Amino acid sequence: MYRLGEILVTRERIRDMAEETAAKISADYDGNEILLVGVLKGAIVFLADLCRMITAPVIIDFIIVSSYGQEASTSGVVLLRKDIDINIENKHVILVEDIIDTGVTLSYLKNIFEYRGPASLKICTAFDKPSRHTVDLKPDYSGIQIPNEFVVGYGLDVAGMYRNLPDLHVVHTDIDE
Ligand code: IMP
Ligand code: MG
Repeated sequence: MYRLGEILVTRERIRDMAEETAAKISADYDGNEILLVGVLKGAIVFLADLCRMITAPVIIDFIIVSSYGQEASTSGVVLLRKDIDINIENKHVILVEDIIDTGVTLSYLKNIFEYRGPASLKICTAFDKPSRHTVDLKPDYSGIQIPNEFVVGYGLDVAGMYRNLPDLHVVHTDIDE
């Protein structure tokens, strides 16, 4: 059983983070067109905030990935279940994620996207658990670093629930039930 726990990151802090990230991106790309690629479904809330605050021209696309296995953490094998619809050759691409845990998902996606010859490729995540990384992956835009806790809200779910919560909450697992 899962139980929704206390707030770890407030909506105000998340909003500040999104604003700061958008400001950095706007400055870095200096008016060049950016393709934001959101990793469904978790990234939709962050991407929706981010894209409205970036001042450079933006286009948006989405991918769906899944990892084999039922566990809460990524098993290590990543499956691309829905790809983007456009050719990214010579485009400035930013992969937008909700959270980096082991880093396996994004390092896999980074390899696939690099291979396609974008003008540039960067990684942007709302939350990051640096102590959990098992692969060498440094996000270019790393919103808020959190400890090793399972969290929900602001797009993140447990069993499909709680994506709509405006704050980031800890989830408690009750082993007895
Ligand atoms: P990674 O490949 O281990 O970095 O896993 C990244 C993916 O695992 C994210 O896109 C999330 O879907 C999921 N994930 C990792 N940690 C959490 C969490 O604390 N809450 C909800 N989903 C999580
Ligand atoms: Mg995800």
